Amino acid sequence: MNLNKMPALRIGDMEVEIPIVQGGMGVGISLSNLTSAVANAGGIGVIATPGIGQFESDYHTNPREANKRALQNEIRKAKAKTKAGGIIGVNAMVALSNFDDLVQCSVDEGVNMLFLGAGLPLGLPETLPLDRLGELATKFAPIVSSARAAKIVFRAWQKRYNYAPDAVVVEGPLAGGHLGFRKDQIDNPDFALEKILPEVITVVKPYEEQFNKSIPVLAAGGIYTGADIHRFMELGAQGVQMSTRFVATYECDASMEFKEAYLHCKKEDIVIIDSPVGLPGRAIRGKFLERISSGVKETFKCPWKCLKSCDFKNVPYCIALALTNAKKGKLEGGFAFAGANAYRVDKIISVKELIEMLVEEYMAVAVQRSTIGGVPI
Ligand SMILES: Cc1cc2nc3c(=O)[nH]c(=O)nc-3n(C[C@H](O)[C@H](O)[C@H](O)COP(=O)(O)O)c2cc1C
Repeated sequence: MNLNKMPALRIGDMEVEIPIVQGGMGVGISLSNLTSAVANAGGIGVIATPGIGQFESDYHTNPREANKRALQNEIRKAKAKTKAGGIIGVNAMVALSNFDDLVQCSVDEGVNMLFLGAGLPLGLPETLPLDRLGELATKFAPIVSSARAAKIVFRAWQKRYNYAPDAVVVEGPLAGGHLGFRKDQIDNPDFALEKILPEVITVVKPYEEQFNKSIPVLAAGGIYTGADIHRFMELGAQGVQMSTRFVATYECDASMEFKEAYLHCKKEDIVIIDSPVGLPGRAIRGKFLERISSGVKETFKCPWKCLKSCDFKNVPYCIALALTNAKKGKLEGGFAFAGANAYRVDKIISVKELIEMLVEEYMAVAVQRSTIGGVPI
């Protein structure tokens, strides 16, 4: 073991110096600023796509084009701010009506990684060279919350594309945002990340042999310190995806009010909500969520049904609008998604400082583990 460095993460021919992925955070929380800062610090920076076009002037008249253009611009801005060799990804949610556009645009722009979550990515856009996915510059990583989901995705890709995803993110129930669990599973130890991570690794193993490639499994959800990273890497993860910690950085693309919601929240303020997407979600409670839970129905105009499954005529509020308001700091009209550990955030630091702290904490455990009674082993 090299006791000077965290082990690099290898995804195909790509080497990521720091095995940390900054998870995609919508709406507008991880855009080019945060993404490039993480890539420059040696990790993988990820642009979130939900609602990305909302800041374009023609979003209400031409939403599909506005979203494509906005994503293209963010990718180009992120690349321009990232040093040579820095790794940029995009997070595309399967639940979005424009999933195909987002995937195609990311591939066209040559992003290094595509993370496919919020639903099972069983079908890629027909416009991609589906029989030659391995020739693309972009690598694919589905986000799953169970071994069963991993099995379904890997089987579908094998059958349809004769290809196995290049990496997998296993997201446990302590994550922020939408969760891939039923409410009653969230606190059940059978669904804890420590339990589902090894199960997913077991599902992926035979595909590594069959496709003669290594398929790293990355752990996500509630990972807060370098010691946590070490623990999940000992359980077989080759890297981690973290989001909550990246919100409290200067470079994060959210407003100061959004970041302050993290600084000021207490453990009991972090709650599970029923999102109009049809999934539970973890968020910081505030006036907006209190109003909704008391039965108030917000009036809003839906420009284009951005979520495939949204019953926009009957949902109590528009989640895209609520999250956009929160991004802008208008928390009376929305709420901040947050991971279960958000209450531990006590200050805003730079991405570089955060990564250095995580590496230091990781190394402290690694060094301790490599000695017994002070004697190196
Ligand atoms: C503010 C916020 C927004 C998020 N938005 C997305 C998203 O748009 N797409 C997605 O796949 N995951 C989203 N997530 C989940 C994260 O990317 C990540 O996997 C998870 O939060 C990791 O757990 P952690 O926050 O405890 O580190 C979001 C999380 C947060 C905190």
